Amino acid sequence: MPITVTPLSDALGAAITGVDLSQDIDAETVAAIKQAWLDNIIIVFPGQNITDDEQENFCRNFGDLELVRTATSIDQDHPSIMMITNVKDSGKPTALEDGEMMFHYDQCYYEQPSMGSTLYAIEIPDEGGNTLFASCIKAYEALSDDWKQRIEGLRALNYYDYARNPTMRPDDVNPDVPQWTHPVVRVHPETGKKAIYVNRLMTILIEGLPAEESDEILNYLFDHIEKPEFVYEHVWAVGDMMMWDNRCSVHARTYFSPEKRRMMRRVTVRDAIPFAAA
Ligand SMILES: [Fe+2]
Repeated sequence: MPITVTPLSDALGAAITGVDLSQDIDAETVAAIKQAWLDNIIIVFPGQNITDDEQENFCRNFGDLELVRTATSIDQDHPSIMMITNVKDSGKPTALEDGEMMFHYDQCYYEQPSMGSTLYAIEIPDEGGNTLFASCIKAYEALSDDWKQRIEGLRALNYYDYARNPTMRPDDVNPDVPQWTHPVVRVHPETGKKAIYVNRLMTILIEGLPAEESDEILNYLFDHIEKPEFVYEHVWAVGDMMMWDNRCSVHARTYFSPEKRRMMRRVTVRDAIPFAAA
């Protein structure tokens, strides 16, 4: 079946229509979707109506499914599905998430972060709870030569304390919480493009630098990545199925009222290609 790919912004993103994700998809269409995804970093399929199993089946076209690694959020029947919601009566294990969330790469505090994720909108608030996506490739390419040189070869500590700071940057580091150092510049394993690999929520420090210099570099990079010219803001509609490349883009959530219901189903694809530095 022929798909139509329509860009969503100058920064990144495309909408794909002409495919029903509740059905098995032929190899040619999968290849076209994969190419659109690599080209655009995020893609959205509007107007879908898919079950847990159908979302998992779609993801298997791109790799093995990642198991949910946050113990309190594991659904034994669907260990790859995480309900991201502020709804407390869903009858399923959930990652309870209210309000705003800073920009981040999913799972960058592990040795092998996920390749990408899908997020399917089941319930959305009538205002807020949008997702911001930033292209860390475009952000890298726009750096001055001096900045590119300054960050080449650096490594940074990525850390995430789900219990204490799920949506905001923490003040200190607990050695028992998941953490990993990764290069500040990552080469995309499929496109070969370089991306800035730090984020405001989870990147704590640059290894081997005095705290002041580490903070100066990180704050510059956080502000740079989040400039409007690198960002697309997605205003959700029920039935949107989003898929993003977690190797070269960060995402954030805008505020929404705790009185409003928001329920998203996430299925994540494992990265089979070992993490590589620049
Ligand atoms: Fe996330």
